[in-house]
Amino acid sequence: MKSTFGVNAGKFVFNGQAVRLISGAMHYFRIVPAYWEDRLLKLKACGFNAVETYIPWNLHEPKEGSFNFEGIADIKRFIELAHRLDLFVIVRPSPYICAEWEFGGLPAWLLADANMKLRCMHKPYLDKLDAYYDVLIPLLTPLLCTNGGPIIAMQIENEYGSYGNDKAYLAYIKDGLVRRGVDVLLFTSDGAEDYMLQGGMLLPKVLATVNFGSKPEQSFEKLGQYQPDKPKMCMEYWNGWFDHWGEIHHVRENEDVAVELDRILSSGASVNFYMFHGGTNFGFYNGANYFNRYEPTVTSYDYNALLNEAGDITEKYLAIREVIAKHVGMPEALMPEPIKKKNYGVVRLIEQANLFAQLDLLSQPVYSVYPETMERLGQSYGFIHYRTIVSGPRPESKVVIQEVRDRALVYLDGEYQGVIDRNDHDIGLDIREHDIVVATPPEGSTLGILVENMGRVNYGWMLKDPKGITEGVRLGGQFLFGWDIFTLPMDNLTNLEFEPLAAQDERSGPLASPTFFRGSFEVAEPADTFLKLEGWSKGSVFINGFNIGRYWNIGPQKTLYVPGPLLIEGTNELIVLELHAMIEPAVRFQDFMELG
Ligand code: GLA
Repeated sequence: MKSTFGVNAGKFVFNGQAVRLISGAMHYFRIVPAYWEDRLLKLKACGFNAVETYIPWNLHEPKEGSFNFEGIADIKRFIELAHRLDLFVIVRPSPYICAEWEFGGLPAWLLADANMKLRCMHKPYLDKLDAYYDVLIPLLTPLLCTNGGPIIAMQIENEYGSYGNDKAYLAYIKDGLVRRGVDVLLFTSDGAEDYMLQGGMLLPKVLATVNFGSKPEQSFEKLGQYQPDKPKMCMEYWNGWFDHWGEIHHVRENEDVAVELDRILSSGASVNFYMFHGGTNFGFYNGANYFNRYEPTVTSYDYNALLNEAGDITEKYLAIREVIAKHVGMPEALMPEPIKKKNYGVVRLIEQANLFAQLDLLSQPVYSVYPETMERLGQSYGFIHYRTIVSGPRPESKVVIQEVRDRALVYLDGEYQGVIDRNDHDIGLDIREHDIVVATPPEGSTLGILVENMGRVNYGWMLKDPKGITEGVRLGGQFLFGWDIFTLPMDNLTNLEFEPLAAQDERSGPLASPTFFRGSFEVAEPADTFLKLEGWSKGSVFINGFNIGRYWNIGPQKTLYVPGPLLIEGTNELIVLELHAMIEPAVRFQDFMELG
């Protein structure tokens, strides 16, 4: 049935009836598709009437001109499921989404053009956006409420006023949506500060909404100064928060979240929980922040939300359900059965493959005079290896990477020399304690540099974050030219040649080089589980070819979530890529008594 949703006399109105939106964010791209329905049912059973999702451009157009709307990228299926459950859908197709997602959802390949300007009226950027919207928007228009679907509203850009003030750009996106047939309510969302609202709003035709974690009265008051007669909506009610590597895990008290929600609803406002359910940054899709330093986000996007990373209901869920019930009555929808969990014991990793011995099986080297960035070589994620020959003899000289994005392991004639970290690397000539200094023998040396892209910045003025090496490599003051470069996206490990791990390799300590370790485990009945990385230092885990994410012993994350649908009945393959060291070539699954 065709419907209308809009704004009238300070209220949201659906088919002529006033409605209040109680919406929850969940990102289909952070949840395996087999669980989309479970999460949506739990949203409904909590009393919500709407689901909100971003749409990440980089997932849907992984290479320029080639599109992906299958599996976890099947946005249409996600929206149709929500429709079947009688939920309203709010979409935020942006092009930029922030969301602690790699590059805020922008495709890395935009940066193949070193002159690219982002999020403003720059024609090369807009042309690429138009080509994407020509494919994306026609998939969404049949799902609009005006065409009988569940989508009631769409956002333009994302918190644009926190970034820029190019109103013509916002208007360009708006016109692009309208021209392609989007006739539902359009809105912007911003922080409740003057400069943010001034930069991000597109009044009077586009509804402005605000994002906040507390003090709703103040935020709505600020919004009201610019937009007095419209319904109030908090488009992101931050009921939890995300974690960076090396930080303490964030927790927001349930009571606190419940009290603020009560105030929001008592004021008559509508709300979208960010996040109702966070999910997981599978693969290399985590983003990063950069204020004073580079801070990559962890694999889990648990967010201390109402459902935890594995989709289980939490105390916070129960507390919020009560507040919602107080305002709109207890939901009738039933709660789905809890998802089964299982401990698959210990997996012994019985084979290994040394990364440097496998370079030619993983990648075709490219010769370049200077070290190119990943994007210039057509690569978006993972690692990149740079190799050059240095003449000798030379006295001890400092290895300088100008600039490293984000973390490099340095090798001289195959011998590990140390780490160069983006946050802690001085490109001047002074030698400090942790700098890498090498001497070159008369016959010369091979210098190898393996750079890890730890996730592009997703927020703020350092958004443009090309990876690998951006300028050059020096020994002392001298730039080194002439490089063999291996792109290592790690998206296909089937060519690796493993060999049995000898008994003497079963020792603890540093590895001579990054190494893939392989083992298998038997599953009678696939169920959710968590992999513990105790004794391992830094790397990624692949189960049946699926990259379940990064681990790092600096925490706070200690386990990786393995959704049951990634497992198969029978023998399952597990590969760990470890960069530094491990205590024992084995990994353990979590015992569920330990959870909590
Ligand atoms: C902002 C962004 C969101 C997200 C949150 C923090 O509000 O709009 O995408 O990044 O911050 O989690």
